[in-house]
Amino acid sequence: MQPFALRILLFLLLTTSTTFGQTDVIIIEGPWKFSPSDSPAFALPEFDESAWAPVSSGQSWERQGFDKLDGHVWYRVRLFIPSTIRDHARVSEGLRLFLGKVDDIDQTYLNGWMIGSNGENVAPGVAPDTGSMARLGSSWDEERIYTIPLSDPRIQWDGENVLAVRVYDGGGPGGLWSGTPHLRALAITDLLGIDHAANVFHFELQWISKTFSVSNLSKHLPIRGTLIVRALDGISGSEGYRKDFAFALKPGAIEQYSISIPAPQRSLVVEYQATFAEFTETISIREEAPYMLTPPVTPAPRINGPTVVGARPGRPFHFLIPVSGTRPLEFEVAGLPPGLTVDPLTGIIAGRTGERGTFRVDIAVKNAFGDAKGTLMLDIGEKLALTPPMGWNSWNAWGLAVDQDKVLASARAYREKGLAEHGWSYINVDDGWEIVGDSPLPKRDDSGKILVNDKFPDMKALGDSLHALGLKFGIYSSPGPLTCGGYTASYGYEKNDAESYATWGVDYLKYDWCSYGNIAKDLSRPELMKPYSLMRRMLDEVNRDIVFSLCQYGMGNVWEWGADVGGDLWRTTGDITDTWVSVSSIGFRQGVNAPFAAPGQWNDPDMLVVGWVGWGPHLHPSRLTPDEQYTHISLWCLLSAPLLIGCDLTRLDPFTLNLLTNDEVLAVDQDPLGKQATPSLVRDSIQVWTKPLADGTTAVGIFNIGSLPRSLTIVFSEIGLPEQVTFRDLWRQRTLLPAQKSASFDI
Ligand code: GLA
Repeated sequence: MQPFALRILLFLLLTTSTTFGQTDVIIIEGPWKFSPSDSPAFALPEFDESAWAPVSSGQSWERQGFDKLDGHVWYRVRLFIPSTIRDHARVSEGLRLFLGKVDDIDQTYLNGWMIGSNGENVAPGVAPDTGSMARLGSSWDEERIYTIPLSDPRIQWDGENVLAVRVYDGGGPGGLWSGTPHLRALAITDLLGIDHAANVFHFELQWISKTFSVSNLSKHLPIRGTLIVRALDGISGSEGYRKDFAFALKPGAIEQYSISIPAPQRSLVVEYQATFAEFTETISIREEAPYMLTPPVTPAPRINGPTVVGARPGRPFHFLIPVSGTRPLEFEVAGLPPGLTVDPLTGIIAGRTGERGTFRVDIAVKNAFGDAKGTLMLDIGEKLALTPPMGWNSWNAWGLAVDQDKVLASARAYREKGLAEHGWSYINVDDGWEIVGDSPLPKRDDSGKILVNDKFPDMKALGDSLHALGLKFGIYSSPGPLTCGGYTASYGYEKNDAESYATWGVDYLKYDWCSYGNIAKDLSRPELMKPYSLMRRMLDEVNRDIVFSLCQYGMGNVWEWGADVGGDLWRTTGDITDTWVSVSSIGFRQGVNAPFAAPGQWNDPDMLVVGWVGWGPHLHPSRLTPDEQYTHISLWCLLSAPLLIGCDLTRLDPFTLNLLTNDEVLAVDQDPLGKQATPSLVRDSIQVWTKPLADGTTAVGIFNIGSLPRSLTIVFSEIGLPEQVTFRDLWRQRTLLPAQKSASFDI
């Protein structure tokens, strides 16, 4: 133990003070100490962590040499909290501790007392929780901010304080990883909550409207002031709407306000600006309003993609012809191979495939408003996913809180909202259907057959219900003993599991590396390939066509060998989240793997993050702005990416539905040539990506990835196009101009 006086000196050296507005800020620089083990004693201030390893709070522990480490660990840091922070505080409300983000779950202790967990404050007096945190899932991308009343006796003013953080990591990177931990007094700007994000805008004829709340988060202080809401054009910045609200809120009070704005045709910024009667600080928050680009669905039938479908010989076959338009429809189909028939009312082609061959199937469909004709190429051979799979997956919405009812509710919403009419077909259950690894319950029966947890009472019935809706059924496992969420996985039982999947009617398997990291000898290519080759063999032995989705985050350049192990698609990245940083850094880095995309083998930059997402029981609207969402969908379609919607479809709002049902944009993704876009021009914040299409045309995405609007002129020959070009805005479905050499855009 160092003498106390010396410690204080050390703290003065190691905690930096700065200011936030007029408030002192203590930067918690460390040294942070780390233990890869777990004990309730680690929460206590008297525990001596000096022999623990040094660690940084800025990046995962894996990046600091603690490789292959999952489970419960501890961080500790000692810090000096000067009483000046309290004395200088302009509102005497509390201390605000910012920890950054924690992958996956945290319990945070100050001087032996739990002050918060997973971003929620914990009331004084709660003792250390020694139980497993695995059941809490993951909040890996959430900032942890805790507040402690200034009068709280747990704070040692002008003395040594011990901050101890117990972290649980379920797999992949773990620990404190984003932002600089710091401490400061709460300011008036922390005490007024403006919550515009809890509700999305509603569309009403020519208007969009929403309700938002303003709350006084203080326990003592009345707050008065004015809130000005303005709508500004996203490109020119000009003001098109303004409304002022005066507020006077008692401690703890919450008021609801509404705004109605003329429906925008393009990017629109809504600014909420609060000023206070008694303080000079201001709050300014911005969000972007949704604008719909996809024209409404026409009542006459329209046959949508995919236009090529792969199947293997002699296997059960089930395919819903995607047709939009008013119901009822009447289908007539010619050229189906022997063994397959079409239901003339639903348009579901079903039966058992026969011999190998390529079959041209002519489709005619009519309703009261008109008719449509199209062709479907049916390729009975080796390859399954001849176009990138399109569907829904439970993970980005529900995480481990998924259950059978939620899956079925999303499947029904999917049909009711017409998504299947635009080619969306899979409903994939991600992690969370198995028995959790640390449960005392048996995980398998005596014959080795995997058992399901009580949230999924009947997998066969689930599969049947999905098929009856014309949809396909996807499931999830890991080649390791446990999934990333700590549930039972397939290691040693690959054959049993493939057989169960076939019995349940599974059409798609996502196979996630996770705990196989503890089985593999190393990360050499043969070790990376081994578990996937094994499972593909087992899937091939059962009597079903099962699309095989490799999930191992891109390790060992999986795109170079994913097809060799029988993968139909493979994840090229770590997990996506609903932020621009995540989406843009994943999406715009996919050029490198483009040569490896082809029909039946797709690079998978991870699932979509639009609509209500949350990775757990509590969902929120995607944090991507509408412009960012248009970029996300446009880019993923250009990349020939598998399109898996990751939101609660029962809460699908009109904007998100409009975004996901643009047939001309989706046709770029589903194009049968199967080429992936590459960048043709990168100039400052402008990126132009081009994708050759089967009909000889080129799909072009022009992106501005900077934070300011840009005007630019594109000379078509400079991006590899012919001298004279006719072009069509696929989002608005309008052919813009007669052929010309260049065009100008405001983006
Ligand atoms: C990993 C995968 C995710 C999801 C979870 C489930 O993190 O990358 O897509 O499947 O596991 O635990």
